[in-house]
This record gives sequence, C-alpha cells and structure tokens, in this order.
Amino acid sequence: MRNEVRMQLGDPMRIGLLASSGSGKTTLLQNIVLMLSRELREKVQFIGFDPKLTSLFSIEPRFSVPVFTQPATWLPTMNKIEQIMNDRLAEMKARGWAKIDPVRHGGEFPQIIVVVEELPSLINNTELSKNEQNAIREWFGSYLRMARAANMGILVASQTFDSGVTIATSIRSQFNIRFIGRCSIGDANLFCEGQTDKCNVLRLAGPGEFYFAQDDFNQWVRFKTWYTDEERIRTMAQAYSVDNRDIGLGWRVSNPFED
Ligand SMILES: Nc1ncnc2c1ncn2[C@@H]1O[C@H](COP(=O)(O)OP(=O)(O)OP(=O)(O)O)[C@@H](O)[C@H]1O
Ligand SMILES: [Mg+2]
Repeated sequence: MRNEVRMQLGDPMRIGLLASSGSGKTTLLQNIVLMLSRELREKVQFIGFDPKLTSLFSIEPRFSVPVFTQPATWLPTMNKIEQIMNDRLAEMKARGWAKIDPVRHGGEFPQIIVVVEELPSLINNTELSKNEQNAIREWFGSYLRMARAANMGILVASQTFDSGVTIATSIRSQFNIRFIGRCSIGDANLFCEGQTDKCNVLRLAGPGEFYFAQDDFNQWVRFKTWYTDEERIRTMAQAYSVDNRDIGLGWRVSNPFED
C-alpha cells in the first residue's frame, strides 16, 4: 500500500497485535520477529509461548529460541523470566542505573522479548487449574509493569484484549506499539483506545491488512503484511537475508536461558 510502518526501537518494545482468527496475526508476528532480529541482532533475544504450535521458532532452525507449547511448562518458565528480570534490576541498582538503555547497554543486556501466540489460549487453558490461570494473569501484570526498565519487552498476538477473557485494562495500557487487523468493532474500540474512526477496521479488505500505531493512538497507518504462500517461513527468512541490511541465513538468535 506504499504506507511505511516505522517502529522506533529506542525503547523496550511492548507490542500488541489484535485480529480475529485467520486475519494474518501469525504471519505478521513472524515478520516482526525476523525484522527485529535483523535490526537488533545480538541486542535481542526471544522467548516464545505458543499454545497452538504455530509460531516461527519451531520451524526456522536459525532461531535457537526456546518455545514453550506445553501448559505445564508455562509457569516455571515465567518464574525464570521473572528471575532474569529481578537479577537485572538488582544489577542496575548496584550500578546506579535507573534503566538499561537498549542502545547503549544492549550488548551486555540484550532486549529480551517474550512472544505470546494466542493470548486467550494461554490464559484460559483448560489443562491448568484456576489457581494456575490466575498466576499467569498476575505474571502479565508484574512483568509489564517492571520489565521495561530492565530492557525486557513483549509481543502478544490475540483475537481479543477484552479484560474479561485476557488481561486487565491497566495492563493492556502498557502496550505502546499496536497492530489491529480484521476484528469486531467492539474489540477494535478497546484496543485503539476509542479512536475507532482513525483505524476503521471495516475498511480492511482481507488477511494481512492491518493498522499500526506507536505511542499516539490518534495516528494509525494502514498497511499490508509481507507474505508468500510457498514455503512461507523459509522464503520470508530468505527475503530478509537478501535485504541490503543482510542478516544472513547463518545468523542465530540466542537463547536467554543459556547465558
Ligand atoms: N499478507 C497476506 N496476504 C495474503 N494472504 C495472507 C496474508 N497474511 C495471511 N494471509 C492468509 O491468511 C491465512 C491466515 O494467516 P495467519 O495464520 O497468519 O492468521 P492468524 O490470524 O494467525 O490465524 P489463526 O487465528 O488461525 O491463528 C494464511 O494462511 C494466508 O492464506
Ligand atoms: Mg495464528
């Protein structure tokens, strides 16, 4: 559509991606992960939660990224992530830093991005007890409040951000980068903070079309995600590798738990 989507990378990213089933969420999520790893290289690490086994990581071997698909692994992993965050916060305190600067300190403390596919399936998973479901809900609250200073961010794809089924409104407000695809007007209205006239989801023609905004929800850019049907993941990775800011197919994104 010749509309440019420009993400500012100077701040840990809190990305929310809203669209109903079959609207191109996973495709866009994969594009974002590839783009971020190309732009930030060793300054970014991903950890994935994927109830539906649809994310990039399990398919593209270049990503030696841990992806957790089994409900029993989610809380222990979230606790580990919280541990990494608390260690960082303690280290920052010792150094007298108010926050980790992603640009200046990103080599030593890479930006860790927690990637969540299908938020409702994660939060309301029937294999988990009510207590466990609540603990996961609470984790999102404490993580999103504290992670930013520690150069840790999030990328969440969901069919809804309704507080009844997913996370509280105060937690949702932490998303500074938002994408909205085809969805109900009610869901769109929640996620564009009432600016439905500026991102008219009824105008979106089909899968892959989205609106994008960063920080200012008065300004939405309409665009279509890059997509190819043939061997989607490989072709996407290759398309990025022949870009003039070549990340190279040999490039690996590292695993934060290995450090
Ligand atoms: N940019 C695009 N251009 C054309 N078709 C697209 C585009 N993005 C996605 N599609 C089509 O839409 C289908 C669904 O895409 P995708 O799996 O990314 O959506 P989703 O929102 O994650 O769906 P689900 O709810 O099933 O997980 C793809 O298989 C593809 O056929
Ligand atoms: Mg999907």
